[in-house]
Amino acid sequence: MVLGGGLMGSGIVQVAAQAGYKVTMVDTSDAALDNGRSIIQKSLSRVARKKFADDETAQKSFVEKVFSNISTSTNADQTASGSDLVVEAIVENIDIKQKVFGALDKVAPKHSIFCSNTSSLPVTKIAEIVSADRKTRFAGLHFFNPVPAMKLVEVVRTDAVSDEVFDALFEFTAKVGKTPVACKDTPGFIVNRLLVPYMMEAFRILERGEASAKDVDTAMKLGAGMPMGPIELADFVGLDTMKFIVDGWQKEGIVEPALVKPCTILNDLVSQGRLGRKTGQGFFEYKK
Ligand code: 3HC
Repeated sequence: MVLGGGLMGSGIVQVAAQAGYKVTMVDTSDAALDNGRSIIQKSLSRVARKKFADDETAQKSFVEKVFSNISTSTNADQTASGSDLVVEAIVENIDIKQKVFGALDKVAPKHSIFCSNTSSLPVTKIAEIVSADRKTRFAGLHFFNPVPAMKLVEVVRTDAVSDEVFDALFEFTAKVGKTPVACKDTPGFIVNRLLVPYMMEAFRILERGEASAKDVDTAMKLGAGMPMGPIELADFVGLDTMKFIVDGWQKEGIVEPALVKPCTILNDLVSQGRLGRKTGQGFFEYKK
């Protein structure tokens, strides 16, 4: 079961279904579920065209076969009562996540494993709400955007999670075609701990007027082999998400303060509603 039919949730549903798992995508409204199905449809068509370039029938049957593994529901409790693995990919809000997991803990079978795809909240804190037993079956499972294309999953080990569950998550990750890495429950885990300060420094280069956004991106693509430059990547991740992560780290004071000090250019764009690709405008403009 995957909770959340947004970009991350639908991506996780897709890779699990492609690997042959029966998966139910759960969200609070039919509209959200329709949106999730449409993201999956687009992505699967792309995969199918690549896999079976000259064979439209094979493309169609591939997409149908994957969809046959996917169901949707607005009833989280009922779905959880029959799920071996619950992966949550909803809004980055600790209260909402705890409320959801607290409810599911009461209805899910004892053996169910609970995972959060959080990118910035402590997994241990989210898990505070569940029973002591479930805490041994609760971990972070952090996928990357776009999920069907990015090969990594960070498997986040809390102090409470059992070795057996951790190993099972490594196995699941490999079965969905990803490479797992193990990491402790620290801010940003591995990827975002390195990526976010790097992107923040790129914004500061702009603020100091040292180079243009386009040149910063070109420099990092051609000079450091990045698939996207840091500015383009920030627009891709979402500037609201970037700000949310950085604000959280500032508040917690765990990360070196200079790395996440407030950045006017980022704050201004967010307050203007220019959140990156998803709103058609961020550091750059995007055609709809
Ligand atoms: N669905 C299915 N497949 C997709 C896809 C999608 N939505 N998007 C890309 N792909 C596949 C393509 O089919 C192609 O497959 P192939 O290697 O088998 O040919 C491959 O990915 C590359 O795609 P393209 O050739 O179309 O385009 P690019 O080469 O420009 O790659 C990209 C696109 C994969 C998005 C690349 O630009 C990239 O890797 N960008 C960086 C993304 C990144 O860093 N993501 C992490 C962000 S941080 C994060 O998510 C954490 C969060 O917590 C904040």
